[in-house]
Amino acid sequence: MSLISIEDIRKSYTAGDEEVTALHATRLEVEEGEFVAVLGPSGSGKSTFLSILGAMNTPTGGRLVVDGIDVYALTDEQRTDFRREYIGFVFQQLQLIPYLTALQNVMLPLAVTSIGRREQVEKARAALAMMGLEHKGGRLPNDLSGGEQQRVAIARAIVNDPPILLTDEATGNLDSLTGGSVMDIFDELKRKGHTIVMVTHNPDNCRHATRVVEIVDGHVKLPQAPETRGGVH
Ligand SMILES: Nc1ncnc2c1ncn2[C@@H]1O[C@H](COP(=O)(O)OP(=O)(O)OP(=O)(O)O)[C@@H](O)[C@H]1O
Ligand SMILES: [Mg+2]
Repeated sequence: MSLISIEDIRKSYTAGDEEVTALHATRLEVEEGEFVAVLGPSGSGKSTFLSILGAMNTPTGGRLVVDGIDVYALTDEQRTDFRREYIGFVFQQLQLIPYLTALQNVMLPLAVTSIGRREQVEKARAALAMMGLEHKGGRLPNDLSGGEQQRVAIARAIVNDPPILLTDEATGNLDSLTGGSVMDIFDELKRKGHTIVMVTHNPDNCRHATRVVEIVDGHVKLPQAPETRGGVH
């Protein structure tokens, strides 16, 4: 059984009295340990797709099954627990809390767990260290560079060691060098066994992926084998 299974998922939004189909994904299976890149132009439905995968956006139709769990058949409360256990999410807007330090931001997902305070700090420090930010935990987000803020957001997404990491344009605003080091971090997480789905505008980032899924006008195209994916540009 695949870790993530998408079965005919649709999402429509109502804008005024018009109904717009933002996404239609007929069938997609993601195996444990895969690194899937989702590529498509602005407005094509990438964030919609990722938020549905992240159990944050109820589809208009279809099913999302993760580790045998029919995610949108769960109650809201069960779905919150599911998210906590399975999903790390790096949002398109990084959503760091401006008045908390980097370390405190990374600790946020642990606040709702039964993990003791000292261990929370240790885990958050370890996650920051993995991002090369061991000396910057005391800084506020505004006192960090864009790339550093991005790495804080990734540290926060992985601090709970979720099996699935979903990232939305995580290298979008970075120069190619900083973007490259963020990609190295994802490579490392993949090696550690995380399953990653990464939304990107940048075809260059796709070479790190085991598969590329293209979204065009809300339609999720069947993934291409790595050796043929030169054609997605
Ligand atoms: N809450 C909403 N209400 C109405 N329409 C929406 C809503 N969210 C997204 N849309 C529309 O759905 C489509 C897909 O949006 P989405 O945010 O998924 O695109 P995207 O591929 O992530 O774009 P970008 O690369 O610019 O982030 C767009 O046409 C957008 O305007
Ligand atoms: Mg988006």
